[in-house]
Amino acid sequence: MTPNEVIDTIKQFGLRGRGGGGFPTGNKWEFAAVQQSPEKYIICNADEGDPGAFMDRSVLEGDPHSVLEAMTIGGYAIGANKGFVYVRAEYPVAVERLRTAIEQSRNYGLLGDNILGTGFNFDIEIRLGAGAFVCGEETALMQSIEGKRGMPMPKPPFPAVRGLWGKPTVINNVETFANIVPIILKGAEWFRSIGTEKSPGTKVFALGGKIRNIKFLKYA
Ligand SMILES: Cc1cc2nc3c(=O)[nH]c(=O)nc-3n(C[C@H](O)[C@H](O)[C@H](O)COP(=O)(O)O)c2cc1C
Repeated sequence: MTPNEVIDTIKQFGLRGRGGGGFPTGNKWEFAAVQQSPEKYIICNADEGDPGAFMDRSVLEGDPHSVLEAMTIGGYAIGANKGFVYVRAEYPVAVERLRTAIEQSRNYGLLGDNILGTGFNFDIEIRLGAGAFVCGEETALMQSIEGKRGMPMPKPPFPAVRGLWGKPTVINNVETFANIVPIILKGAEWFRSIGTEKSPGTKVFALGGKIRNIKFLKYA
């Protein structure tokens, strides 16, 4: 697929960000893709600060490669060669599995220079969050990666235009990334058969407390 085909596919399938705002992922990728810049970045937001939430942790501990592969596809789509996973330090198992998965990907030639002989270069690094809830907000998160105090900045400019180190940046939630590979592999029909009309696909929920059983969850 060409980068445009990847973006069109994500747009058509109607994937919406799982990080809270529900922004259409394909449109976000397109905004970054049309920016002219020799440097662009992909960031995975794994700060997951909401009390009691462990959706992103489950995904990262269970299948870190799903996120790394999607970030690589995102990098290819927007023209970025570098990605960061910003993950909270309170998730040591997730961090360890991410480290292992990055190492495995490099060894298999799925990260690094000339990935699978395509001429596309992409690598991913981990950055640890120090537990500030506000650093889950995208502009604060990018400042934190830059080594500054994490403070939200007014938007616009949006990260897709001026993001990390002032360069076009796509920042998506862990679960958003985890949706990318299955929807490309399984197709629109499968993806749209799950979820709602305006927000197709699966949704991970974290449940806590004294739960005996759950008959159903109505997701409006
Ligand atoms: C105070 C605050 C905290 C946030 N914390 C998180 C977080 O922990 N994880 C996350 O993915 N998004 C968080 N967000 C949303 C991000 O700013 C951003 O919209 C999101 O990472 C975009 O990803 P998506 O398009 O895949 O949803 C937070 C937003 C605010 C305002």
